[in-house]
Amino acid sequence: MHILGSLIMAMGILLFHPSGGQGAEAIKLPPPVKKGGMPLVEALEVRRTVRRFASRPLDLGRVSQLLWGADGTSDPRGLRTSPSAGATYPLDLYLVVGERGVKDMPAGVYHYQVAAHALTPVAPGDARAAVARASLHQSWMAEAPVMVVIAGEYRRCTARYGERGVRYTHMEAGNVSQNLFLAAEALGLGAGIVGAFEDKALAQAVKLPPAHEPLLVMPVGYKP
Ligand SMILES: Cc1cc2nc3c(=O)[nH]c(=O)nc-3n(C[C@H](O)[C@H](O)[C@H](O)COP(=O)(O)O)c2cc1C
Repeated sequence: MHILGSLIMAMGILLFHPSGGQGAEAIKLPPPVKKGGMPLVEALEVRRTVRRFASRPLDLGRVSQLLWGADGTSDPRGLRTSPSAGATYPLDLYLVVGERGVKDMPAGVYHYQVAAHALTPVAPGDARAAVARASLHQSWMAEAPVMVVIAGEYRRCTARYGERGVRYTHMEAGNVSQNLFLAAEALGLGAGIVGAFEDKALAQAVKLPPAHEPLLVMPVGYKP
């Protein structure tokens, strides 16, 4: 086997320890770049739902920028790039990394740790095909090197706002998705957005904890 392949496989064994996501070794993301970049008006102008991707892998810097742009910490008080009703932050982001989807990173599902700006491994293996199947067989999704699953834990928001917290959680998924779209365009990438999926099948494909409801899937990659 190619030496890089063995190295990535060894990393995979270390990362996805049988003890599961909790306590498994986190991958610290490089700090996001907060100056310069594509002007906002340009990103707004070029943003489109992208459904075709080049097989080129992303680097960790782009992954960092995407996740931070979507819902990262932007204030020492813990406030984020995306607004949240009463700062209850009911959303979690999961990164589905395909085989050779991100340079030097094993395929698998990872959980974005917002405060630490890190990824913790949830499950090893390439889950893209299972996600595409769960999304009513939208096979184009599996061509993207990575996907971001936006999941909501309603009780964080309903504990304060009652039933209305469900509505707020859905609104927030919209905020995060548009941030992610614009962050992708600013990085020279493209993103898709998918709301048509079987909830249970998708939750199983990415091993979501029972309280985390899948709300949107966003495949991301270079445009062909
Ligand atoms: C909530 C939501 C769910 C969507 N679900 C899907 C989907 O399951 N599959 C898909 O191909 N596009 C999906 N789209 C993308 C829309 O089809 C797309 O945004 C629309 O055609 C406008 O194109 P644009 O995003 O390029 O401006 C969804 C968009 C939103 C906002």
